[in-house]
Amino acid sequence: MNPIRLALVGTGGRGQIYVDVVKRMPAGRVVWAAMCDRNEGVLNDFCDRNGLTAPRILSVEELVRRNDIDAVLICTPDSIHREPAVACFEAGFHCLVEKPLATTPEDARAICRAARRSGKLLHLGFVFRYDPCILKLRELVAGGAIGRVIACITHDAIGWFHGSTYMRRWNRFRKFSGDMLLHKGCHTFDVINFITGAYPARVAAFGGTEVFQPREGAASHCHACRLTDDCIYYTDQGPEYRERFYNTAGPQVLPEDMCVYNNEKDSTDTVSLTAEFTNGMRLSYTLSMVSPQGRRRMTFIGTRGEIRCDMEEYRIEYWPLPDRPVDVIEVPRPTGTGHQHHDRALFSHFLERLEQGDDPERGILDAYMSGAIPFAALESLQKGEVVAIPSP
Ligand SMILES: NC(=O)c1ccc[n+]([C@@H]2O[C@H](COP(=O)([O-])OP(=O)(O)OC[C@H]3O[C@@H](n4cnc5c(N)ncnc54)[C@H](O)[C@@H]3O)[C@@H](O)[C@H]2O)c1
Repeated sequence: MNPIRLALVGTGGRGQIYVDVVKRMPAGRVVWAAMCDRNEGVLNDFCDRNGLTAPRILSVEELVRRNDIDAVLICTPDSIHREPAVACFEAGFHCLVEKPLATTPEDARAICRAARRSGKLLHLGFVFRYDPCILKLRELVAGGAIGRVIACITHDAIGWFHGSTYMRRWNRFRKFSGDMLLHKGCHTFDVINFITGAYPARVAAFGGTEVFQPREGAASHCHACRLTDDCIYYTDQGPEYRERFYNTAGPQVLPEDMCVYNNEKDSTDTVSLTAEFTNGMRLSYTLSMVSPQGRRRMTFIGTRGEIRCDMEEYRIEYWPLPDRPVDVIEVPRPTGTGHQHHDRALFSHFLERLEQGDDPERGILDAYMSGAIPFAALESLQKGEVVAIPSP
């Protein structure tokens, strides 16, 4: 079989992950056919650093004129997925699009329509589909361990320090991130759809920017602020703080002492919502950005029992009915650091789908539905109404 000819659009942090994954693969399965980024300095530095000899291309318009590409990895920022994805589908390339699919429902629909028209594969960068905990939960639910699933309770807890770095980065603006409910939550909403095999139908949400609201008496930047004693986000705390900030937030260079309360933003930081699913299940979901520890916790309640999972612990409790002893399932922790294992599994799955000529229809609705709850929830917050989820 000829190697799959890949192009990368967006040679930033996520693009680096895919280049690292490819470096560790046996030679001959894939070959880099092109590297594309609109920032020439970033592109050159990326290619030089990684010893990449593929042609360097500065625009998607130029990329889609090539006839030596099979598939494209779209790793541009969240709000810039539509233009490259639609152009690449129209050029007849398969696409792995990073999460979230898009930051507006219009963009999400446009990508899905282009994918459907092209007959090429749309694969999303949802790494948690490859997490052993999620796969075990799916196996239990699909195998009928808890009977008919009637409810799901989920808490996306973002650690307070990590959460505050988002409120000093581009993520705090909806026009870039689509809102933190989408940027963070889409992983969780996708795996809930994946585990249950169902899609959300309607949503009612409550919340907003509740914590990081303007604070009277605080200045625009920490260095000019008087209210330092009781502020846990006060940045002028020496080199350790700076290091922690950069380790958590990545290399983005921002005015690091910008006030998390008084800076401009429109993303929510606290949302609780209820969603009703096509299979009758009801989801109760909370996003909080000031939790003591970052955690993703999920409970599925069914007519024959309950399963509870804390994804950080790799431990699932299975409580079957009637009154049988709890079964504690220790899920093997994935190897590697961060989500290295998941990245490899995600990329391999994309390649397998390509090699096996998978049905292109598979994945389109999943991709759209991963963002459907955040989009409907933001509308619900604005209108104070229950919002129905339209089809793509
Ligand atoms: N699946 C995951 O777990 C995961 C993890 C991290 C990031 N992501 C997603 O990956 C995407 C990229 O994130 P990142 O951290 O790599 O961002 P980044 O800012 O590090 O890199 C993005 C790159 O895209 C380039 N770019 C922007 N517009 C372009 C265009 N029109 N054409 C060509 N290049 C363009 C920029 O110059 C930049 O180099 C985001 O959507 C992010 O949410 C997913």
